[in-house]
Amino acid sequence: MNKIMYLDAAATYQKPQVVIDAQVDFLQNHYANAGRGVCERVNYVDSMLVKTRRRVADFIGADSNQVVFVSGTTAGINMVVGLLGLNPKTVVAVSDLDHHSARLPFVQSEANVIVCPLDKDFNIDVDNVPCADVFVITAMSNVLGNVQDVANIIKAAKRKNPNVITVVDAAQFVVHSKIDVKKFDCDFLCFSGHKIGADTGVGVLYIKNPNMYRPVVFGGGMVNKILSDKVIWNSVPEIFEAGTLPLTQIAGLGVAIDCLEQQRPNLGLIKYMYDELVKIPRIRMVSRRDAALLDFVVDGMHALDFGALIGTRGVCVRVGNMCATWIHDLLRIPGSVRISVGAYNTMDEVVQVVEYIKGILK
Ligand code: ALA
Repeated sequence: MNKIMYLDAAATYQKPQVVIDAQVDFLQNHYANAGRGVCERVNYVDSMLVKTRRRVADFIGADSNQVVFVSGTTAGINMVVGLLGLNPKTVVAVSDLDHHSARLPFVQSEANVIVCPLDKDFNIDVDNVPCADVFVITAMSNVLGNVQDVANIIKAAKRKNPNVITVVDAAQFVVHSKIDVKKFDCDFLCFSGHKIGADTGVGVLYIKNPNMYRPVVFGGGMVNKILSDKVIWNSVPEIFEAGTLPLTQIAGLGVAIDCLEQQRPNLGLIKYMYDELVKIPRIRMVSRRDAALLDFVVDGMHALDFGALIGTRGVCVRVGNMCATWIHDLLRIPGSVRISVGAYNTMDEVVQVVEYIKGILK
């Protein structure tokens, strides 16, 4: 059997051993629910939550009370839609860089969704941003791997409407670039733990002004007391975290952030593959050489067929529309092949993968 070569970090990142160890240690030695007692175990979990929330806050330049634990980017953006309470008069600007999870929650709301133009390089056109009440910015496309100039896009959106609410989908961006929410000056920002080496089921929603919003999910943990005539809510950010949090995943999240900050994926591997694969006549590059991932189509071969063929060599890549229909429509292609790397991938692996691809397309 072929050795597995996993080149699909942009779908989900392989887990560093220290993250696995932290989760196992939590499950074996510290497991209890948070905020539901005063025993030693609960105290441990409570302080683990405080510590991890602070770690996440430092990671993105926020304060702890602006960090809400959610199950992932999708849940975060859906929560934003609920918090904002949109109506048909609310103009929401989106772009064709969006992943389905960044746009669909707004499309399914009552808001008036408009599409902001991209420039010739398929970046959000800073000089032509529309006037909107809400602006959704996909900070890095999961197909093109192009990083957006978030701070300048937000500045431009604010010039059109000083009260615009800005929502940043940083699910892909966070892997490769430093987030500074103060520099971005965004109102909301989301990312998923599983794309940075933490487990599935945990993500982060940053809210710039958490006290401005009322919760949209109700249950235990977010209420301090219920009196006969009124509810005394917990303070932020817990008010947005009804129910039991994904504690085991949170126990791994801070460790995953440490690992990511110590070593980001080596984009030299992407450049090497780009330079080799661009020489193959049947390959048409979709992404650019300086992108954070590699995306292409193969002339005369469906992306799924290519995925199956390379898959028989043990190589795991992403194929299809990647939950990003709009950019594929704009490019007039039904789908594409994507190769993305984590810090764990090596030059030896990508050299081998290039050889396999040359063999398949010779
Ligand atoms: N959003 C993930 C991807 O791009 C799943 O593959």
